[in-house]
Amino acid sequence: MVTFSHIPLYRTLTFKVAMALIVFFIFNGVVLVLWNQSDVMQDLETDIQTVYRNTAFEISEALQNSKTDQNNLSVFFDSLAQFYPGMELFLVNPKGEILEHGSYVPSQLINQSVPIEAIELFLNADSSDYPIEMPIPTATDLDFVFSAAPLGSPDNPDAYILVTLVEGGEDVYISWWEEYGAILTRTVLFSIIIAVLAGILFWYFLTRRVQRVAQAVQNYRAGDSRIVLNDNSSDEIGHVAMHIGDMMERIDAMFNELGKKEKMRTELLASVSHELQTPLTVMQGNIETLVEHREKMSEADLSQKLGAVYTQVRHMSALIDDLFDVAILETGQMRINTEPFPMVELVEDVLQSYTLLLDQAKLVVERNFPETIQTVNADPLRIRQVIRNLLSNAIKFSSPGGRIRITTEVSSNEILTFRIEDTGVGIAEEDISKIFESFYRSNQQLHKTVKGTGLGLHICQHILKLHNSNLEVRSRLDIGTTFSFDLDLYKEVVTI
Ligand SMILES: Nc1ncnc2c1ncn2[C@@H]1O[C@H](COP(=O)(O)OP(=O)(O)O)[C@@H](O)[C@H]1O
Ligand SMILES: [Mg+2]
Repeated sequence: MVTFSHIPLYRTLTFKVAMALIVFFIFNGVVLVLWNQSDVMQDLETDIQTVYRNTAFEISEALQNSKTDQNNLSVFFDSLAQFYPGMELFLVNPKGEILEHGSYVPSQLINQSVPIEAIELFLNADSSDYPIEMPIPTATDLDFVFSAAPLGSPDNPDAYILVTLVEGGEDVYISWWEEYGAILTRTVLFSIIIAVLAGILFWYFLTRRVQRVAQAVQNYRAGDSRIVLNDNSSDEIGHVAMHIGDMMERIDAMFNELGKKEKMRTELLASVSHELQTPLTVMQGNIETLVEHREKMSEADLSQKLGAVYTQVRHMSALIDDLFDVAILETGQMRINTEPFPMVELVEDVLQSYTLLLDQAKLVVERNFPETIQTVNADPLRIRQVIRNLLSNAIKFSSPGGRIRITTEVSSNEILTFRIEDTGVGIAEEDISKIFESFYRSNQQLHKTVKGTGLGLHICQHILKLHNSNLEVRSRLDIGTTFSFDLDLYKEVVTI
């Protein structure tokens, strides 16, 4: 396992960025220098050639006017060179062979000839064609500009005067390399300094912070969530840190939640087996009596025992129904089938089935139904289930002499509101948000006597959610509780 905080330096982002900067700056510097080099040299050569364009012609004229003979040519060249220090003077025949050579600074011929085409090109060119270069006969490997002029008839010259700036040219090269070499060196130094500074900043503002986040994650993974992510800045890393911190909190909360759920499930399993055990024991006793003493029993005894068995069977079946509903809603498989039905009729029907229980509990039901028929568009079976559970809760959590008021009212043209109010024990404020959770039961002291699983409201809320509705509750301890929900009214489609 590679741990983030122990990445070797050369593999960090900081190092890579610094290296990239160094390469970038050096490359930039070299490109700039080379670019300038060609431009500067070309401009320089063009200037020199333009300035010295006529020098060869002046010399050629001087030579023709002085009528110097062949033997004195060498002396003439040396004396001319005094006037043009820094230049090399050559006399070249039409084949390009050097006949005579003179310069102020003593120099040796390295090549005995020059390319005559370059001279002819120069004579026919104008300054826009410059620079025109040729290899300098007194220097190795140096092409440079020159000036030239014909001797004798311009169309068919006897020879040419050739003037070059070899010494100066070499100097230009050397000084140029000195200058740009220094620029290159400075570029390299500068880029290293920039890269190091950038690296330090990068490390300080990024790598170090990312490492801290990684460290916190690592510690968290190792089970130590004490290291808090304290990167509160608003940039990307701050955001990442914030989200990771959030995530850690959520994971912790989820684990807590899971732990609680798990505990509840275990408790439920215990309570379910207990709840199943009780009716089973009762049924077993009754059935045993029925099997063994059937003949001796009176008709009244017989029906009493059968009635007791029946009650227990109903109770078990209701419990199993609830468990089944929770199973399908938790796996998202619960579906509803909506159809129009009259709401009040359904409520009356449910009330009818609870008559006995209501009487036993000595509770009065107050009906607050309108005269008109209210047809809703919902799943009648599921809505019946909701009303049954709300009513049975109202009965379970009320004391004898209490009152249950059921209201259905049309709050707008499209919505019907169902409300059931009781005068029972009420729900503590801190419990209200939890009663819809599965397996949750408050009123702990009551539960010793009141049967239930804590599944009813969870299922009801889910059924109403499937109807795009919501089960709402208002309650005050010892005063009473009101549950209410809305349903869509059925809009009759008028056909003509
Ligand atoms: N009308 C009510 N009055 C007081 N408490 C209620 C009422 N309805 C529900 N509760 C509380 O909400 C809890 C959850 O209800 P429910 O999900 O129907 O489960 P159960 O009826 O099995 O206890 C009940 O245990 C009870 O504490
Ligand atoms: Mg219930």
